[in-house]
Amino acid sequence: MELSKRLTLYLQKHGIELSSVHFENILKELSVWLCPSVEGSGVAKTQEGDYTIIHPHYREPYHSLSAGAVRECLEKFLKPSGLLERAEHLKRVRILDVGFGLGYNLAVAIRELRAINPRLEIEILSFEKELLRAVPPLPEPYQTYLRLLWDGLPGFEREGISFRLLLGDARERIREVEEFKAHAVFHDGFSPYRNPELWSLHFLERVKGLMEEEGVWVSYTSSLAVRKALKELGFRLSGTGSVGRKRSGTRACLVGRDELSKQEMNKINHSPYAIPFLDPYLDREEIEILIDYRVRVELLKMAQGGFEPPTPRFSAGCSTS
Ligand SMILES: C[S@@+](CC[C@H](N)C(=O)[O-])C[C@H]1O[C@@H](n2cnc3c(N)ncnc32)[C@H](O)[C@@H]1O
Repeated sequence: MELSKRLTLYLQKHGIELSSVHFENILKELSVWLCPSVEGSGVAKTQEGDYTIIHPHYREPYHSLSAGAVRECLEKFLKPSGLLERAEHLKRVRILDVGFGLGYNLAVAIRELRAINPRLEIEILSFEKELLRAVPPLPEPYQTYLRLLWDGLPGFEREGISFRLLLGDARERIREVEEFKAHAVFHDGFSPYRNPELWSLHFLERVKGLMEEEGVWVSYTSSLAVRKALKELGFRLSGTGSVGRKRSGTRACLVGRDELSKQEMNKINHSPYAIPFLDPYLDREEIEILIDYRVRVELLKMAQGGFEPPTPRFSAGCSTS
């Protein structure tokens, strides 16, 4: 269904009346957010020389084309998670992996953790909506571990590694998990505006329920909607540094204190964009979550009298008009 029709239906359903200017504001920004971030689909070479895939529906690469796939796994997930330091002392680490994708994050993590502590037991719980048929290989030494994961699907227990992948919508499958206390969460959905079902307050709340008290949640995103949801859930936030053209990611812990710059905290506290995606019953369509979010942003902007919008980042040949 056309975007403007969906927006009209949403407004009617919620009894919200907007002037055409506000209606157009919303429509324009939604169109920019939904615009593909890259052209093409299928296997793509990153600027670091390794490979990833561009998803045909999300029109987005599984890994950063500028930072490189392996580098992103290391710099945006494994290192900020603190697991490398903890691996020296722990007997067993538990990783919750949201968005298994090509399995790169996990293959890189297993290899690096085992390089530090060869006897370390590693327990992994992974969520994935759709498994790909063909996955480009990783450079060694990671390919060995990637093969181990793919050959062992949907799970295995071998040589101190316990791996279980729950296939299907993570919002449904997460309800089945009774006990898991993650030391680290690799939260790696597609970007929040295109894949909001994995970034809502309500889904993040479920994820939080599967973390140990000192667990660390990491992701490549610095989205205000996600950071605000994490704050509302009681997390303390820090940035993870930029890699390639990728902006700083987010690290969230239940202990410690916020370590974001004053400017970043100011945005979380005052920007109308800093409101969570809502999906109370974990069953909303992605477009519904996004429209609901953007309408609430517009209502806040109207109440606040304006705030600089974030710079649009999606520009693969999409017109904003
Ligand atoms: C950016 S990719 C993950 C890349 C992966 N971590 C890796 O290292 O190869 C995002 C993944 O999230 C999955 N995904 C999106 N929505 C989902 C949902 N509702 N439930 C489970 N998986 C989902 C996509 O199918 C995709 O594989």
